[in-house]
Amino acid sequence: MAKSIAIDGPAGAGKSTIARMVAEELKFIYVDTGAMYRAMALYMLKEGVGADESEKIVSSCQKADITIKHENNEQVVYLNGENVNGLIRTEEVGNMTSAISVNKAVREKLVELQQKLAESTDVVMDGRDIGTVVLPNANLKVYLTASTRVRAERRYKELIAKNVSCKLDEIEKDIIDRDYRDMHRELSPLKQADDAILLDSSDMTVLEVKEKIVELYKEKN
Ligand code: DC
Repeated sequence: MAKSIAIDGPAGAGKSTIARMVAEELKFIYVDTGAMYRAMALYMLKEGVGADESEKIVSSCQKADITIKHENNEQVVYLNGENVNGLIRTEEVGNMTSAISVNKAVREKLVELQQKLAESTDVVMDGRDIGTVVLPNANLKVYLTASTRVRAERRYKELIAKNVSCKLDEIEKDIIDRDYRDMHRELSPLKQADDAILLDSSDMTVLEVKEKIVELYKEKN
């Protein structure tokens, strides 16, 4: 049986950085499920579908062919044959993603893809519903969080490093709004699975968090 580690938590908690490092250390494949939802949102934006047009979201999600490949240790997301890694990290796509990810058809399609990926490969998978829905039998479940201010400061630094102009208070407000939507949606809301271990990374370095998760995995397996 393939092994799996599920890492869930709110935006900006450091999930992707840490999941990638854990995967590298354990020689697992890192699967970033948020990137799949982002590719779906990008498709909707390209098609001119509005965030609140649920019927159009259902019909256009059938036309979006999303596949994942791993090239040079990096996950590459293809949307209808096009590598969209460079297009899915904007705030516009992030906000649209949070809106379309409440849709049942979108979730069913992407959850199926995620479960298939984990069937035959050892994975570290991060997202919002991995421990609760996608991989209920994961070998280790972690719920990774940090205070909203710390998460906003991290996002701010990332954007500034990419020369994207932004305001810290606006980023914090976006994070608070996104958390609220992710935690209060009807389908697969973001929440800690009963058997997940809570880690607050506000006062931890990425290396400390990575080591803690590897240690927890080794203890349990
Ligand atoms: O992790 P991220 O910021 O790339 O995720 C973008 C959005 O996708 C987030 O607001 C919620 C949604 N998402 C989800 O609903 N389920 C997942 N497993 C992963 C992401």
